[in-house]
Amino acid sequence: MARKKIALIGAGNIGGTLAHLAAQKELGDIVLFDVAEGLPQGKALDLSQCGPVEGFDAKITGTNDYADIAGADVIIVTAGVARKPGMSRDDLLGINLKVMKSVGEGIAANAPDAFVICITNPLDAMVWALREFSGLPHNKVVGMAGVLDSARFSTFLAWEFGVSIRDVNTFVLGGHGDTMVPVVQYSTVNGIPVPDLIKMGRTTQEKIDAIVQRTRSGGGEIVGLLKTGSAFYAPAASGIAMAEAYLGDQKRILPVAAYVDGQYGVDGLYVGVPAIIGANGVEEVVEIELDEEAKGNLQVSVDAVKELLVACKGIDGTLA
Ligand code: APR
Repeated sequence: MARKKIALIGAGNIGGTLAHLAAQKELGDIVLFDVAEGLPQGKALDLSQCGPVEGFDAKITGTNDYADIAGADVIIVTAGVARKPGMSRDDLLGINLKVMKSVGEGIAANAPDAFVICITNPLDAMVWALREFSGLPHNKVVGMAGVLDSARFSTFLAWEFGVSIRDVNTFVLGGHGDTMVPVVQYSTVNGIPVPDLIKMGRTTQEKIDAIVQRTRSGGGEIVGLLKTGSAFYAPAASGIAMAEAYLGDQKRILPVAAYVDGQYGVDGLYVGVPAIIGANGVEEVVEIELDEEAKGNLQVSVDAVKELLVACKGIDGTLA
């Protein structure tokens, strides 16, 4: 059987880390695409030379030509501009919308059968625009946000409880912005819901509220520390987990930015929800019962995403 082909659009911090992880896991051969000349070629060469040391078999090539992504099974998109300190994800909208147009057209022309994972921010708007520009089926275009946001939430909870990260399972829904909804009700430590752990005296409501807030501004905290860019290790790891779920037909239930049409009272937009990821891409949006507070917060988040889409349509008339 031929090796799988992974195309990475954007060879910056996340793109390079994605390539390294995909090679280490031998997910397939890797093509790094970027508009910057030399960057994807240089990273591909450097990463290829990890092969003998780390012992992986993966052909890694760099390119500035969309023709080289032809036949890709999975495409992960990080092309665009990353957030700088003081810049909100939404400030990026105008710049990255244009990038999504060229990427969407490149994918449609060269790899229309791929499963496409978008990471570029502002995520919920960019994944929607990428789907519109590419014309691919909704189940084959998905956004990476919830896996990362949940990983951040899980990390903070593991620290708070002093337990292994392996035993912490969390859900973050809604848009990938300040209105995201870390769902405390369904977050557990080895099956014990966090609200029960509060009752058991293992933590306090105030501490959990602070962790929820830290999760919401988790990306900004890292931007503030790095000063020259945004997070890339955990975003890349999260993108790879989604690619593995698709390539391995794992049927994992992951929080992802999926196209929601009807569920959760949402009509026709991309927002963070639990979804089953398998060989057919997003196979099902799973509708879980939410308490009143989470429902209200999700609505606020959906409204924020809707505003972004209105702004996108204002910038590019073809999206209206
Ligand atoms: N086509 C392809 N690549 C592009 C294009 C384009 N039209 N425009 C920019 N790029 C490339 C840049 O040349 C750069 O190499 O995208 C890459 C982005 O890399 P970084 O600036 O290092 O950004 P990164 O940290 O990887 O984040 C990428 O993901 O999480 C989001 O907010 C983040 O939107 C940002 C994206």
